[in-house]
Amino acid sequence: MTVLLTGGTGFIGSHTAVELLDAGHAVVLADNYSNSKPSVADRVTAITGQAVVAQEIDLLDRAALERVFQEHEFDAVIHFAGLKAVGESVAKPLEYYTNNLVGTLNLLQCMRARGVRRLVFSSSATVYRSDNPVPYREDYPTGATNPYGWTKVMIEQQLRDLAASEPAWSVVLLRYFNPIGAHPSGLIGEDPNGIPNNLVPFVAKVAAGVLPEVRIFGDDYDTPDGTGVRDYIHVMDLARGHRLALENIRPGVQTYNLGTGRGSSVRDVIAAYEEACGHAIPASVAPRRPGDLASVYADPALAARELGFTTEYSLLDMCRDSWHWQTTGAVAAA
Ligand code: WQD
Repeated sequence: MTVLLTGGTGFIGSHTAVELLDAGHAVVLADNYSNSKPSVADRVTAITGQAVVAQEIDLLDRAALERVFQEHEFDAVIHFAGLKAVGESVAKPLEYYTNNLVGTLNLLQCMRARGVRRLVFSSSATVYRSDNPVPYREDYPTGATNPYGWTKVMIEQQLRDLAASEPAWSVVLLRYFNPIGAHPSGLIGEDPNGIPNNLVPFVAKVAAGVLPEVRIFGDDYDTPDGTGVRDYIHVMDLARGHRLALENIRPGVQTYNLGTGRGSSVRDVIAAYEEACGHAIPASVAPRRPGDLASVYADPALAARELGFTTEYSLLDMCRDSWHWQTTGAVAAA
């Protein structure tokens, strides 16, 4: 298939582009480069040996988006593009609602005008209400506690309503848990702007000596070692999950968790990263981060049953690939 990847030079988008190209699909990477670099497209080519079309596009620029749909015959779209920092969304709700919701509506209008009605959407475990029991199942109630999470809940609803009104639409909602790691080549990986908000990119910079120490946000949670538990999934597993979702897409709306089904604590991650990098990583306990939950992890059974998707990488694999990216590719990408 020929697939448009919005946000295609981002962390998940670039790894999915590699997965699709390696499987014989063609991709066009559209990105506004607000949280990625154009050079990522060259690295995707270096990994796959295949030319990649990359275009600087902002989904708020409807005319530019329409031109992309006139220039290419897409069979499907994977929609990654969106602002995704929880804390920033609280400070800038209007920017988040405009960028994520209006950008998505522009995309859907262009898709419908050109008869492109297969869409895989980059959703998130953040859509689950925080009072759900773990492991989270796809039929559990949704609701958010921050504007970023609400944009994901609202876009899922837009897609369900659209598919209900026009049965020709085929939609898959993929709810990611905590994507980490990097392509084994070390050429692409998580490359956040500024000081990382998320745990593993922060640990990576402490391991590399760029930041002084890891702050463990609370060690008094009701978890085995008192630190927060999450379901970390290797970005290579996640990319394969997108390919399987695309290759099994069908009319209507399907919703799948993409997670391992296993929870790992902050201290588990630090220990795995120390094994991966070969030296101790300084860490100290800090106050809890507002809004954090004790435990979040997936029930992965539905994706296993319907997509044949099961994760293959361990937490140590994820840390080893993250460390390889941090010590080779990330520096070169700077
Ligand atoms: C993981 C654990 C922290 C940083 C976020 C978004 C979510 C999704 C994935 C987009 C928690 C602890 C963290 C640090 C720490 N993004 N921590 N010190 O919060 O589970 O999910 O990213 O969809 O929407 O909310 O990920 O990596 O920020 O935190 O102790 O410096 O690590 O308390 O327990 P989170 P995270």
